[in-house]
Amino acid sequence: MTAASVTPLRRAHAPVASWIPGAQQPAFDPDGVASVAAQVREPVHVVTGRHGTAVGVAMGGDPMARGDGYRLLGTLPPLYPEWLGDRSFCETHGVRFPYIAGEMANGIATTEMVIAMARAEMLGFFGAGGLAPARVEAAVDELVRELGDLPNWGVNLIHSPNELAIEERVAALLIERGVPIVSASAFMGLTPAVVRCAVSGLRVGTAGEVVRKTRVFAKVSRSEVATQFMSPAPPELLRTLLDRGQITPEEAELAARVPVAEDITVESDSGGHTDNRPLLALLPTILAVRDEMVRTHGRPIRVGAAGGLGTPDGVAAAFGLGAAYVVTGSVNQACVEAGLSDDAKAMLAQADVADVIMAPAADMFEQGVKLQVLRRGTMFAPRAAQLYEIYRTYPSLDAIPEQRRARLEREILQAPIAEIWAGTAAFWRDRDPEELARAEADPKHQMALVFRWYLGKASRWAIDGDASRKFDYQIWCGPAMGAFNRWTAGTFLAEPANRTVVQVARNLLEGAAVITRAHQLRTYGVPVPARAFAFSPRNLT
Ligand SMILES: Cc1cc2nc3c(=O)[nH]c(=O)nc-3n(C[C@H](O)[C@H](O)[C@H](O)COP(=O)(O)O)c2cc1C
Repeated sequence: MTAASVTPLRRAHAPVASWIPGAQQPAFDPDGVASVAAQVREPVHVVTGRHGTAVGVAMGGDPMARGDGYRLLGTLPPLYPEWLGDRSFCETHGVRFPYIAGEMANGIATTEMVIAMARAEMLGFFGAGGLAPARVEAAVDELVRELGDLPNWGVNLIHSPNELAIEERVAALLIERGVPIVSASAFMGLTPAVVRCAVSGLRVGTAGEVVRKTRVFAKVSRSEVATQFMSPAPPELLRTLLDRGQITPEEAELAARVPVAEDITVESDSGGHTDNRPLLALLPTILAVRDEMVRTHGRPIRVGAAGGLGTPDGVAAAFGLGAAYVVTGSVNQACVEAGLSDDAKAMLAQADVADVIMAPAADMFEQGVKLQVLRRGTMFAPRAAQLYEIYRTYPSLDAIPEQRRARLEREILQAPIAEIWAGTAAFWRDRDPEELARAEADPKHQMALVFRWYLGKASRWAIDGDASRKFDYQIWCGPAMGAFNRWTAGTFLAEPANRTVVQVARNLLEGAAVITRAHQLRTYGVPVPARAFAFSPRNLT
């Protein structure tokens, strides 16, 4: 043990000055301490009694260099929710708060949600994943029309390994319409489409710095992927884009001076696709990668946190770990702006922390990839798991034993397989004839497409509120939802109609500031009661 580590108490109690009370006496009792701790926007003095050693808190009064007052151990300046993250995040993206409502596929993160967040001086990303390019285009046009030159909104560019043409088309659209932020997700490595978003429009600013037209956020849960986004674009991808005429030689040259993305969102255990990693382990790991990359390349990179954030405590902890900003998902899906049926939102409002489960994912069904969904009130997860088990067991639809096939049609699919296949074949003929040809040549792939029909429809039924298929609703959701429901129980935010993305965000941030202040005071020896670490939701303007 070092000399520095044996004397913390004496150091903490060494007064720096005296403090003379004004209208208000200092507080040493739990109620008084809790009340002062909650007033985060006021400076707080940490004091000890004139003679005793008890540590308390005080506001106002007169901190003096000398005198016969209380002994002043230190003063905490005001704390604002705006200041919890990295200040450069707010400056760069033109926001007041370091907070993002994350993209949710199939337009569940609606244009309305993105507009509400942008106008409240936060960030929101439109959920373009899973939508046809024409729908993405309509949404982008609406956002451009409504938000004009505002810099603080974005659209998801989701990596689609099976549909690279769609990825390319969406990237081209986002660049062409001047979408200020592209949030890249599900990438296992860089592709021409995402690099094109980062590089198109790079130019030299007045001070010789590289200025971006499009800011790319990258959502990652693995350090090897993070490393690629934190590095300058690889020359071979730049060459491909140059050869295609999609970037200019000047842009390619400038690309060598900047990382692909300057904002990296670390996604821990979350709703939807997730590696289920805990934030406490993942964020420090990727922050360390970031430090290394910044040492190598010199340009600052911010790292934000996503996954499991549904309470002020969680948000305070993420900032405490060093997150530059926070991203929420599950809790926004239960908000009025979300593109999900009221029925499904009501189910989300009932969820507890353990009411989630991993289930087969439609987009990567054959690879056995899973995503996190709501378990309570729906049979989707066990039914989807049965489909996967059948897929693994039999080589084709025809090989499924008659009795099992009949049960499958009756209980899960609720339609004859032949009928589903006819519709599925028509869909793929239109969207991607190669996929259809593959299925016709490979009966196992045909089975996968039929089962993926169910998985895809299950999301659609939840979005549309198809009551006849309520037990099949597929609702992506993480444990944050249950934590949020418990936190808001009995308050105005328990009512689905009062859950707006902006109220949810403001309450999470305000509460995080209160908890951060309580924690600060505790570290200085103030006996902070447990209730000072609790923040009850309220209508915040
Ligand atoms: C319904 C739903 C759909 C989602 N769709 C996408 C998506 O299309 N692309 C993406 O990058 N992230 C998607 N996410 C992840 C969120 O953007 C966010 O990162 C995540 O939900 C944060 O974790 P949390 O659910 O614990 O709050 C989705 C999340 C949910 C709940």
